[in-house]
Amino acid sequence: SGSAPHGQTAYHFQPAKNWQNGPAGPMYHNGMYHLFYQYNPHGATWGVGNLSWGHSVSGDLVNWAALDAALEPTSPFDANGCWSGSATILPGGVPAILYTGISADGEQVQNVAFPKNASDPLLREWVKPSYNPVIPLPADVPADFFRDPSTAWLGRDGLWRLAVSAKVGNAVGSTLIYRSKDFRLWERNAAPLQESRAAGMVECPDLFPVAEPGVEEGLDHAPRTGTGVRQVLKLSAMDTFQDYYAVGRYNDTSDTFEPEDDGDDCQSWRRLDYGHVYASKSFFDARKNRRVLWSWANETDSQADDVAKGWSGVQIFPRKVWLDNDGKQLRQWPIEEIKTLRSRKVGLLGMVVNSGGVNEIVGVAGTQADVEVIFQIPALEGAESFEPNWLLDPQRLCGEKGASVPGGVGPFGLLVMASGDLQEHTAVFFRVFRHHDKYRVLMCTDLSRSTTRAGVYKPPYGAFVDMDIEAHGGIISLRTLVDHSVVESFGGGGRTCITARVYPEHAENGNSHLYVFNNGTGAVKVAKLEAYELATATVNVGDDGLIQP
Ligand code: FRU
Repeated sequence: SGSAPHGQTAYHFQPAKNWQNGPAGPMYHNGMYHLFYQYNPHGATWGVGNLSWGHSVSGDLVNWAALDAALEPTSPFDANGCWSGSATILPGGVPAILYTGISADGEQVQNVAFPKNASDPLLREWVKPSYNPVIPLPADVPADFFRDPSTAWLGRDGLWRLAVSAKVGNAVGSTLIYRSKDFRLWERNAAPLQESRAAGMVECPDLFPVAEPGVEEGLDHAPRTGTGVRQVLKLSAMDTFQDYYAVGRYNDTSDTFEPEDDGDDCQSWRRLDYGHVYASKSFFDARKNRRVLWSWANETDSQADDVAKGWSGVQIFPRKVWLDNDGKQLRQWPIEEIKTLRSRKVGLLGMVVNSGGVNEIVGVAGTQADVEVIFQIPALEGAESFEPNWLLDPQRLCGEKGASVPGGVGPFGLLVMASGDLQEHTAVFFRVFRHHDKYRVLMCTDLSRSTTRAGVYKPPYGAFVDMDIEAHGGIISLRTLVDHSVVESFGGGGRTCITARVYPEHAENGNSHLYVFNNGTGAVKVAKLEAYELATATVNVGDDGLIQP
């Protein structure tokens, strides 16, 4: 781990320089993982008109080699930008890309592209047929609100489907379904897959099947008979800049989606991450039979900072996603390949952290770390009582009851990216409340002390962890990945995730500390803690030893 100026990450995906936003077309093909992403080759800002598909390949989802851009805005149907989209593995194994082009006339249209040479193991070159666009702008959709085609899937009737976002009739955030016999002529289904009336526009729709509750394997999009399989619909809502998902039933005849447990409007659904991520996209990893999620984590420093450092935007570390035992929520967990980066380890068993305790975890460099903790609360009865209106705004509750505000059970958790004098630190913590005869667990990432630098967005993030902590014997886990400017946390076994961007001044010299703390009245036990220093992955730099399918 060397010094990484300006928050440059060591094992999160970023191009060598310049701007990136949403992930596009992630896939596993022929022993190789591909990631495409929204890329501006001309600078560190979004750059209207310039968006291209950056392209990298990996044998392990950890180390990446950068290739030339896969798509560039060079054709009449994408002259003003190649925007987000998806990959579909066609029968026979050849992949296709569906993406949004901003046409020479400034209209959003959907295009297709194929590998120039399907036997090139890296799929370096992509061809855009001249018959594009395959889906022109519909008459009832404004020119700049029609985008982000999903991975396509085959129905039992042998027709392809894709989902695409549109603002229909100027007001409704719709997810439209198009069907095709041949992947070339596409026809819109009269009914949308889903409509979110309160969300002006949704983006980047992702519909995917999940295995039975508690089963961690992923499912591909193969047509299935029967209605046993649940599906997840994820939408990115422009108004709130958040990714929402619902678990529900997809009807493959009417091509509509009904949330099972949530309301119709996506802004009332659960969030994939309660921190700062957007435009996520998943793919089925046939190599390991799992569903893997990518998502963009934007910078939260100023645009001037981004221009000065020459880059902006990272992707989250890829996560495995599956349906929780409760059948209602997703669980997310860093893919197991992260273990290949683990180097130095510190372990603890049965450490009691008393009220007011701040115990340093010595022995791992705190700028690149993977920390797993299992907390055990000896006496839940000491929890503060809960006021029902707090349910409405957990993020605000995390602001009012920050890491230094004493409570009954908690706040307890980790201080990461901390300077030795604790002037700078990012707190990731839980606070337990009593609500009638149940307990509620609040999870927060508090950035208010994350840096002494001015001009940085430093909100508290927060959400409840949907689990019965009493039934779990007062035990709750926390995992946090620290990578210079990224703090990704997984509460309650990945039921609640919070990703934050931080820019501590002290860490410019590479030295950062890690602590366990407890500001509750009662003691908290660290039943187990494992902290690993993580090595620097090879991410889009150099070219040795990268491709190991
Ligand atoms: C979010 C998004 C997409 C669009 C792309 C443009 O990922 O706004 O809707 O295709 O970025 O860069």
